[in-house]
Amino acid sequence: MDDIRTVVISGATKGIGAACALHLDRLGFRVFAGYRSEADAERLRARASSGLTPVKLDVTDGATIAQTAEIVSAATGEAGLWGVVNNAAIVVAGPLEVLPIEEIRHQFEVNVMGALRLTQVLIPLLRQGGGGGRIVNISSVNGRLCTPYSGPYSASKFALEALSDALRFELRRWAIEVSIVEPGAIRTPLWDASRKRALRIARSIAPESKQLYRRVFDRLNDVKSPARALAPERVAHVVAQALIARRPRTRYQVGWDARVGVLIARLLPGRLIDLLLAARRR
Ligand SMILES: NC(=O)c1ccc[n+]([C@@H]2O[C@H](COP(=O)([O-])OP(=O)(O)OC[C@H]3O[C@@H](n4cnc5c(N)ncnc54)[C@H](OP(=O)(O)O)[C@@H]3O)[C@@H](O)[C@H]2O)c1
Repeated sequence: MDDIRTVVISGATKGIGAACALHLDRLGFRVFAGYRSEADAERLRARASSGLTPVKLDVTDGATIAQTAEIVSAATGEAGLWGVVNNAAIVVAGPLEVLPIEEIRHQFEVNVMGALRLTQVLIPLLRQGGGGGRIVNISSVNGRLCTPYSGPYSASKFALEALSDALRFELRRWAIEVSIVEPGAIRTPLWDASRKRALRIARSIAPESKQLYRRVFDRLNDVKSPARALAPERVAHVVAQALIARRPRTRYQVGWDARVGVLIARLLPGRLIDLLLAARRR
C-alpha cells in the first residue's frame, strides 16, 4: 500500500476482531481497535505496532461511539477513514418460546443496532476520503441458514445481512463498498461466552418452561467450539481482501461448513432442511 489507510474495528480485543486488528496492523493499516476492558486493550497493544490504537467502544453506548468518531476524525483529518469492520457480537441462544424478550432485544441491540449505529456515525468519515471506503460486516453462516435454538443470533445476522445489502446500494453514489463476511465455525472465546450466557439465561427461566425443552437445556453445558473450527486468522485474511480488493465481493464465506450451509439454504426446500437439521441433532 502506498498510502496509509485507517480502519476501525469493533470488538477487536478477542477472537476474530483481534486477529483482524493484528493482521491489518501487520499489513500497514492504521488500526483503531475497539475495546471494552482496559486490560484487554493493553494485551492487544502489547502485540501490535505503534500504528494500532485501542479505542474505548461499546456499540450499545452512543457516547463511546461518538468519542471514537472524534478520535478517528482528529487523527485522519482530510484523508478520512478507509474502512469500518463491524465485528462485535454476542450470542443469545435457546428455545424462542421461553427466552426472555429482553435478552432477545439485547441480542439485536449489540449485533444489529450496534453495528448500524457505529456505521452511521462513521460514514461521513468514509465519504470524506473522497475515494471509496469500505464497510465490512461480520455476519455468519447463521445469517443465511437458521439452525434450531439459535433463533435470536440467526435473526440478528439475517438482519445484519439485509442492512448490508441496503447500505451497499445506498452508498454506491460515493463508491463506498459494503461486504459481508460469513464464517462457519471459528475457534474463538465466543463459544465459551455463549455457553455461559445461555446457562445464565437458563437460570432465569421457570422450571416448568425449561421442562418443555429439557433436552435442549440439558445439553447447554456441551456447547463448545467444534473440532472442525478454523483459526480466526482465516477470517482476518478474508477481511483484509474485502478492504484491499479493487472490486470486493458482496459476500465471502469462510470455511467449507459456511459454504455448505449457504448452499443448503439456497437450494433445498425448507422441509428437507428441517429433516437434515433434525437428523444432525439426534
Ligand atoms: N466464532 C465463530 O464460530 C463465529 C462464526 C461465525 C461468525 N462469527 C462472528 O464473528 C464475529 C466475532 O466473533 P468472535 O468469535 O471473535 O467472538 P468473541 O471472541 O466472543 O469476540 C467478540 C468481541 O465482541 C466484543 N463485544 C461484545 N459485546 C460488545 C459490545 N456491546 N460493544 C463492543 N464490543 C462488544 C467482545 O468484547 P468483550 O471481550 O469486551 O466482551 C469481543 O471483543 C461476531 O460477529 C460473530 O458473530 C463468529
